[in-house]
Amino acid sequence: MPAILRRSLLYVPGDREAMLAKAPQRGADGLILNLEDAVAAIYKELARETVARALQTVDFGPAEVIVRINGLETDTGYRDLLAIAALGPHAILLPKTRSVEEVRFAAWTIGRLESLHGAAADAIAIMCMIESAAGVLAAAEIAACHPRVTALVFGAADFCAEIGCTPAADDLALLHALNQVVLAARAAGIDAIDAPHMRLDDPAGLARGAEIARNLGFAGKSAIHPAQIAAINAAFSPTTEQIIWARRVIEALGDDEARAGATLLDNQLIETPHLRRARRILAADRRAA
Ligand code: GLV
Ligand code: MG
Repeated sequence: MPAILRRSLLYVPGDREAMLAKAPQRGADGLILNLEDAVAAIYKELARETVARALQTVDFGPAEVIVRINGLETDTGYRDLLAIAALGPHAILLPKTRSVEEVRFAAWTIGRLESLHGAAADAIAIMCMIESAAGVLAAAEIAACHPRVTALVFGAADFCAEIGCTPAADDLALLHALNQVVLAARAAGIDAIDAPHMRLDDPAGLARGAEIARNLGFAGKSAIHPAQIAAINAAFSPTTEQIIWARRVIEALGDDEARAGATLLDNQLIETPHLRRARRILAADRRAA
């Protein structure tokens, strides 16, 4: 299981110095310092400079610090990568990833920059946004194409704009794509992170969306406002009921997989997969604590 807690990833606009400075206090497991969409074209340079300064001056505490750069097919994106990789964030988030070639190119460039700047090798991870039809179809190869890739992040706005779907709460428009992103990530042993809930005045919709994402196998969900973080963290943390169940499973089967057979718990058959699930729940609870 990936060791990093990624229940909530908060997007922070890269051109807003005050928001960047306050971001570590928001309670998100990860912060996506954003240089791509949501930063107007005329502010791209300002955003790059502002994020670069924040990386050097702000104490981000335990948060995973992720910088979403612009697409590497643009000069802006390439400049972003050169400037940001030199400053050692935990991860670079590639937008609109469609193919393994662009991920391998980013990985190679990051490796060169780590060497050039005397940074630890392989310190910077890559996360890939999956937000196009091509990206969804290539998700499995993208997730597995390089050891730096640690997460796939779904982008619903771009995905819907491209394929022309209109998702409503709880409907099926995105289901195939969401499943594909989770399967691709899990097959590669990495995390899948769901898209944000775009409405800010809809706590019930946010909670429902987070619950659906968790049930589908996502490790976490992105957020576009600090007010969304508590609900997301709660949805992706084990409940007291799950923790009690997990402890009882381990008690009933023993904590040694080699010796675990099958038995009944509350009249339900439990066996090795339940033991693994129980361990996963307790590990998630320990990390959340
Ligand atoms: C995020 O980038 C999205 O397109 O939803
Ligand atoms: Mg997008």
